[in-house]
Amino acid sequence: MKIGVVGATGEVGRMMVQLIEEFDLPVEELRLFASKRSAGSHIKYKHTELVVEELTDEVMSESYDYLLFSAGGGVSKRFSPIAATAGNVIIDNSSAFRGEEGIPLVVPEINGHLLENYRGIIANPNCSTIQMVLALNGVRDFGIREIVVSTYQSISGAGRKALDEYYNQVEWFGKGYDVSEKFEQSQKKVFEKPIFSNVMPLIGEIDPETGMSSEDLKLINETRKIYSDDSITVYPFAARVASEYSHGESVLVKLEKDVDVSTFIEAVQSTPNVKYSQDIVTPLEAAGSDITYVSRVRKMGKDVFMIWVVADNIRVGAATNALRILAEHRRINQRR
Ligand SMILES: NC(=O)c1ccc[n+]([C@@H]2O[C@H](COP(=O)([O-])OP(=O)(O)OC[C@H]3O[C@@H](n4cnc5c(N)ncnc54)[C@H](OP(=O)(O)O)[C@@H]3O)[C@@H](O)[C@H]2O)c1
Repeated sequence: MKIGVVGATGEVGRMMVQLIEEFDLPVEELRLFASKRSAGSHIKYKHTELVVEELTDEVMSESYDYLLFSAGGGVSKRFSPIAATAGNVIIDNSSAFRGEEGIPLVVPEINGHLLENYRGIIANPNCSTIQMVLALNGVRDFGIREIVVSTYQSISGAGRKALDEYYNQVEWFGKGYDVSEKFEQSQKKVFEKPIFSNVMPLIGEIDPETGMSSEDLKLINETRKIYSDDSITVYPFAARVASEYSHGESVLVKLEKDVDVSTFIEAVQSTPNVKYSQDIVTPLEAAGSDITYVSRVRKMGKDVFMIWVVADNIRVGAATNALRILAEHRRINQRR
């Protein structure tokens, strides 16, 4: 197989390279792409160091078995149509094509059947959406009417620069500086306010009409598209917290049927790669895992449950889902 990773030097791209190794795919050629800035740098793959190449129209016109894009929406919009025209299968991690009709938005455990006989661009959903739809997938048999979700999203969800910004602030604090003062004086900022020891009740841009953020809207629109059900009402509130890896989510789900707690838990666990835990699971414990953990299950009314969902945003919320799409696409379409 020939695979290309676009955005290979980023948080998600590096994990994709690591997972290509972990998934033990029969890779004959692995090509890594990033901007001119990183061209010539090296990334470890198995026992070698691969050289990062500059992303160009020419390299995207080549033939690949799979191209994994993880370099932001602008890069995806500019380069993935070129790769698609060349007949390639592209798994795109950005939000560029998620809402487009005809482009499948895939979580393989839920709607992997959409990959059958499909070539072109496949959209990988947003990190906060993936773990929520996985956690609730099993209870869809009881009829999901409403979801109220508050997210506690980690810093790595905003990429490498966001983590560096946080580490700088940790260092300032360690040296006894006033972090807010130092933050005001610094030039390029990922976050509007210091993330160190803080919570940011906004992710993305605000829609002036509704006050909802772009991250809030992803939770609404992507959930409906993945479940193929526009009747579900989602009330989201996305927030950033000062943890490094793994997003947490408080999720309230209102069902059509009255079910007991053990039936609910059994249904949650029926989705592959989702585990219920009687003990609380925190972001620190979920980091590095490919499992979506559900804990703190509470029955709040005859048809209302509240749960705590946590998963590694770089793995489950991005790179692992992309590799699971690749593996499922390969499995379904090679069978014929
Ligand atoms: N982090 C998450 O939890 C997460 C989850 C789901 C989805 N995503 C999505 O995944 C994408 C990448 O996120 P990330 O967190 O990995 O970001 P990141 O750490 O900031 O990495 C960005 C990557 O894109 C490359 N890039 C930037 N501009 C480019 C250009 N003009 N041409 C070619 N390559 C370019 C960068 O290369 P250089 O080294 O050359 O700058 C780097 O490899 C985004 O679309 C993001 O929304 C992220």
